[in-house]
Amino acid sequence: MNVLEQLKRLDDMPERYKTMEKSELEARARSVKERLGRRLFIPGHHYQKDEVIQFADATGDSLQLAQLAAKNDEAEYIVFCGVHFMAETADILTGEEQAVILPDLRAGCSMADMADLFQVERAWAALTDRFGETILPLVYVNSTAAIKAFVGRHGGATVTSSNAKNIVQWAFSQKERVFFLPDQHLGRNTAYALGVSLDEMAVWDPHEESLQCTGAIDNVKVILWKGHCSVHENFTVRQIEQIRRTKPGMNIIVHPECSWEVVQQADYAGSTKYIIETIRNAPPGSRWAVGTEMNLVNRLKYEHPDKEIISLNPYMCPCLTMNRIDLPHFVWALESLSEGIVVNRITVLNEVAFEAKRALDRMLALA
Ligand code: 13P
Ligand code: SF4
Repeated sequence: MNVLEQLKRLDDMPERYKTMEKSELEARARSVKERLGRRLFIPGHHYQKDEVIQFADATGDSLQLAQLAAKNDEAEYIVFCGVHFMAETADILTGEEQAVILPDLRAGCSMADMADLFQVERAWAALTDRFGETILPLVYVNSTAAIKAFVGRHGGATVTSSNAKNIVQWAFSQKERVFFLPDQHLGRNTAYALGVSLDEMAVWDPHEESLQCTGAIDNVKVILWKGHCSVHENFTVRQIEQIRRTKPGMNIIVHPECSWEVVQQADYAGSTKYIIETIRNAPPGSRWAVGTEMNLVNRLKYEHPDKEIISLNPYMCPCLTMNRIDLPHFVWALESLSEGIVVNRITVLNEVAFEAKRALDRMLALA
């Protein structure tokens, strides 16, 4: 079976939802929300499409969504508008009787897929062989539950883009070295901001099973997993130079999943929440080139007509997997619930959830 056929098999949505008018889909979504009331909770990530985010009970960045899931003990159904790793996190942090639903199972994350447990176990064996007991693993929430469980098992914590600095600082109070998975860019940007030089960082390549480093290996403080976000890697220093040339005075703000070079050249860098708040609090007439996902940039544009807002990349960067959650899938998931059928439930095995929760709880206690 080829990849397209496999993806098709993950999508059980009946054909009729595909041809429904937007207005009808919206009316149906409103009606189920009204019927289910507080039995239903809909969290939505900032990168979600407008057609879906309009129905969210709460929107947020990864940290806020994890905190909301941990707090909510009343909703029977949590229809998660985001990607698979976020729904897994919600399942881990909510009660057994609460069902977490991802409207389209194809909403994965290419970054999370860049580290599997087998690769991580092999890397850990090689790294502990080389550095002994000096390493603490940290994992970006953009990862599978299995990797979070690995990190929980080894005393580490999860991080998000809004708390990475705090958690890396905490990690250095525990051990001499940090093993940061799976986003090398967030790891590098965070460690650099804390005073770790590039020479003190090494990159673990899971395919070559090798450690690459520009400095002396014994001085390495941070080991970065060679993973990245396929959306944010599309922002480049060239684009920044182009903006500086053609639109002098424009502010450049980027997400820390962008490369170190891009973050260094930008004026500001931070999580989706930070980007939203910085632009919201900026004076009218201010001008912004934004290096993050396109649904969020478009939303910022029309929410702030008094400011000039453009994408740093003129060809824009959608997250294709975030965009999988569309109105037809969302309404299908809701209507199934109102008929008592739970479709696309995300369930993390108890033993994995238990250890992953240790890593998440450490982060939530520190955040
Ligand atoms: P934040 O919302 O934490 O900034 O994360 C961005 C992201 O890539 C989510 O997939
Ligand atoms: Fe994954 Fe990047 Fe999409 Fe976030 S934006 S879900 S990290 S691919």
